[in-house]
Amino acid sequence: MSCWHGNLPAECGSLSVYLRLLALTMKVLIPTSSWETAWFTTALIISAYLFLQPASYGRFHATNRYTLTVPGKAGWFIQELVSPICFLLSFFSDPEQVQRQADIKLFSLGTVACICWTLHYFNRVFVYTYRAPHMSPTRIEIVLAAILFNLVNGTWNGAVARKYAERSIWEYDKRASLCCGIALFLWGMYVNIISDNELMRLRRQKVPCQQGSVTLSNGRKYFIPEENMHRFVSCANYFGEIVEWTGYALFMDGETAAVGFWVWTLANLVPRAVQTNKWYRRTFGEKYPKNRKAVIPFVL
Ligand SMILES: NC(=O)c1ccc[n+]([C@@H]2O[C@H](COP(=O)([O-])OP(=O)(O)OC[C@H]3O[C@@H](n4cnc5c(N)ncnc54)[C@H](OP(=O)(O)O)[C@@H]3O)[C@@H](O)[C@H]2O)c1
Repeated sequence: MSCWHGNLPAECGSLSVYLRLLALTMKVLIPTSSWETAWFTTALIISAYLFLQPASYGRFHATNRYTLTVPGKAGWFIQELVSPICFLLSFFSDPEQVQRQADIKLFSLGTVACICWTLHYFNRVFVYTYRAPHMSPTRIEIVLAAILFNLVNGTWNGAVARKYAERSIWEYDKRASLCCGIALFLWGMYVNIISDNELMRLRRQKVPCQQGSVTLSNGRKYFIPEENMHRFVSCANYFGEIVEWTGYALFMDGETAAVGFWVWTLANLVPRAVQTNKWYRRTFGEKYPKNRKAVIPFVL
């Protein structure tokens, strides 16, 4: 199979360890309803696939396929916008709640969730797309899959947040998980944004730095990122994103919808980070820091 990246036996070894870990996590967390089970199982299957075949965008964009290529910024903007729209529609227009004339409390767990979701997606949809100097092309199947995911994920999480919006946050007794969860979410978002900023700076950079650079056949230059969390992991932006949704699942008290988003985030980003780490090592050889992990500092 010419499209596989890296060495097959090594891939299969780390793949099986990774899948066993993910399956174990899901066994502990998995809910009973059949569609929820299907949602988690799909994440597992997609993750296994992405481990062997990274999604075709960015440095892994493949041009020899038969589906349509979509301009990076347009594809990104459309697919990501679906999530906050679905969340907010679901949060503000639950018909059952309207019949009961329930009030949304200003200070509630639900509004905290709504603010976090809106903040994250405001950055992801508008700020990131506007500021990114260039986004390489993506493929129509990736955009469609992301839209489908965001439809389910945004709507489901919006409905769950709404459920928590009627009770004041001052009556909420799990204060420790609430505070730790919010702190993790904010720190994760900070790490994600500063790491994305560094990559944007490198994307703009024209002259090679000390460690050198490589130019791919499509003319794009890649450097070795060195700042902040990039000293520990190849994909510091993904690390930040994973921390964010870990915090969200924590302050939402392990609600299935929130844990679902966390599992899907891992399922998407861990395989890509492992591929990216291998890509850096292949591309920069000895120049690439030996101890730098893929996505979780000192671990993976
Ligand atoms: N929650 C989720 O499931 C999920 C899924 C995907 C992405 N995201 C988030 O979306 C954001 C972007 O994701 P992504 O996968 O596009 O990130 P990425 O592969 O790290 O790329 C981000 C940008 O930086 C550029 N870049 C990356 N490495 C570079 C290097 N070594 N030298 C120069 N430029 C470099 C890329 O250029 P090229 O495009 O030219 O490679 C791209 O413009 C991240 O914050 C990520 O956490 C979240």
